[in-house]
Amino acid sequence: MRIGVLTGGGDCPGLNAVIRAIVRKGINAHGHEFVGFRYGWAGVLNNEATDLTLSSTRGILHRGGTILGSSRTNPYKVEGGVNMVRAAMQARNLDALIPIGGEDTLGVAGKLHQDGVNVVGVPKTIDNDLAATDFTFGFQTAVQIATDAIDRLHTTAESHNRVIIVEVMGRHAGWIAAYSGLAGGADVILVPERPFDIDEVCRLIQRRHSKGATFSIVVVAEGATPRDGDIVSEFGGAADSFGHVRLGGIAVALEKAIEDRTGYESRMTILGHVQRGGTPVAYDRVLGTRFGVAAIDAATEGDFGKMVALRATEIVRVPLDEALAEPKLLDPAFFATAEVFFG
Ligand code: F6P
Repeated sequence: MRIGVLTGGGDCPGLNAVIRAIVRKGINAHGHEFVGFRYGWAGVLNNEATDLTLSSTRGILHRGGTILGSSRTNPYKVEGGVNMVRAAMQARNLDALIPIGGEDTLGVAGKLHQDGVNVVGVPKTIDNDLAATDFTFGFQTAVQIATDAIDRLHTTAESHNRVIIVEVMGRHAGWIAAYSGLAGGADVILVPERPFDIDEVCRLIQRRHSKGATFSIVVVAEGATPRDGDIVSEFGGAADSFGHVRLGGIAVALEKAIEDRTGYESRMTILGHVQRGGTPVAYDRVLGTRFGVAAIDAATEGDFGKMVALRATEIVRVPLDEALAEPKLLDPAFFATAEVFFG
């Protein structure tokens, strides 16, 4: 077979492990040939691709980012986009595509499947908010980066008797905030699933300080929102081709609100894209590799319209439409465990 591979959406530690696994197993076990489209669906629309070979995918397992580049291009927002995808596949004599991406990239994959294109999807996002898979690769790396940052902020918060607000990524779901907050000993964690009351946040911090603490750590997901809507994030503006506005900055508003209400000196840190960069932790290299091997097996068997997924400890195949129906929000039981340590 000849197969096209692409990486779409926000990059994610572990993408190169997937590419390497697809190519290594595909060539060595099945004798397939591969091209890698550049910059996600943009490369398919422009027919911009490079051969993926054993040598071009050597030495990339531990590297962050994606050797193919990525973008948030949506072929369904481009006039004649689906025909351009078909034309690129025909020009390169491809039997199938393996897109590696999140809800947006795989949403396109699901529609293409309905339009008769052979696709097998691989789920990716540091946010871990894709239904049908227990974990996505990249998440554990992001959690580790955030936890390391919280550990560092802890010591400076303690030295200066400050409240430090740490903003992490998480658009629809607070997985990174909850995991890194729990691991880093956060005193309050704010997530998109639970609109917060700023007075309640301050009450928790004050309770802690009344028991002798002189500093506090608040971890907030970028998508967290206040219940009454009077604290807003910094950015906003135009949506991308999948309808997402840029998030970030809720910590700026929280810093001021907490200091004004409690009188405790407060500082905020926005971790931003540092959570997506750099070398993947071992867990994400292993999961990415398992996903890549499973995806090439599915494509080889002609089992299209599926996404590979982790269920408990097994890699399974699930229909793309089922996988993308709803985002996977934070497990309330997990959040309840983190809440035990608030205030
Ligand atoms: O979906 C992953 C993610 O990291 C989100 O948490 C975040 O809102 C978004 O990507 C940021 O995207 P960009 O790189 O386009 O700013």
